[in-house]
Amino acid sequence: MEQNRESILKLPTHVTIIMDGNGRWAKKRGLERLNGHQAGIESVRASTELAAELGIKYLSLFAFSTENWGRPKEEIEGLWGLMIKAIGDETPTLMKNNIRLRVFGDLEGMSENLQKQIYECIERTSHNTGTQLIVMLNYSGKWDIVQACNRFKNEHPDEPITEESVARYLSTADVPDPDLMIRTSGEERISNYMLWQTAYTEFYFTPVLWPDFRKPDFRKALEVYSQRERRYGKV
Ligand code: FPP
Repeated sequence: MEQNRESILKLPTHVTIIMDGNGRWAKKRGLERLNGHQAGIESVRASTELAAELGIKYLSLFAFSTENWGRPKEEIEGLWGLMIKAIGDETPTLMKNNIRLRVFGDLEGMSENLQKQIYECIERTSHNTGTQLIVMLNYSGKWDIVQACNRFKNEHPDEPITEESVARYLSTADVPDPDLMIRTSGEERISNYMLWQTAYTEFYFTPVLWPDFRKPDFRKALEVYSQRERRYGKV
């Protein structure tokens, strides 16, 4: 499974990606934005494949933010359709490669059919022990912190909120914080993504648009990460 790791000396345990630039990719080609999202699915496949080949334990992808509801209805519906279809179509490949699908975000209130299809794939792959592919759907960092505080307070009304208690109730509670966050398309922002979990994450920004992001681009990011020195606020 673990191939071509020579130039990547230090492998991150958790890589997270803000997949950005699908719309610009489509516009440059005179296509609809949805064609950009469709092309972006191929990049999801390539990135997942490389993560599994290298033995990266967690790959999380920011697929739909709570702010994305502000987009035109047709784009939103088209994007959800593409994601559901991709999850369904790829389930056999995930099984074959021992990849476990997980989804974090606010799925309450989403259509039952949509939840059903997502949970089916989650269930089928739940015993896979290789790379965990984590899709962040209807997710935002502020939502995650607030829901963590509320759930904690519901269960422990008399206890004060601490850093440990928030961390324990985040949607990502059993996943280590990302070591590396990649954002494509030249934007250099966190955009209300994993705000709590990225406190000590290394950031890597690339001008490559998400639909053009393939294994060599991912590998380059891993090589840069591998040369970074992480000090966690110490000297
Ligand atoms: C950002 O580009 C991209 C998105 C909002 C959606 C990304 C989702 C996918 C590629 C599908 C993932 C599928 C699975 C199954 C995980 P943008 O539209 O903001 O681009 P722009 O900034 O150029 O307009």
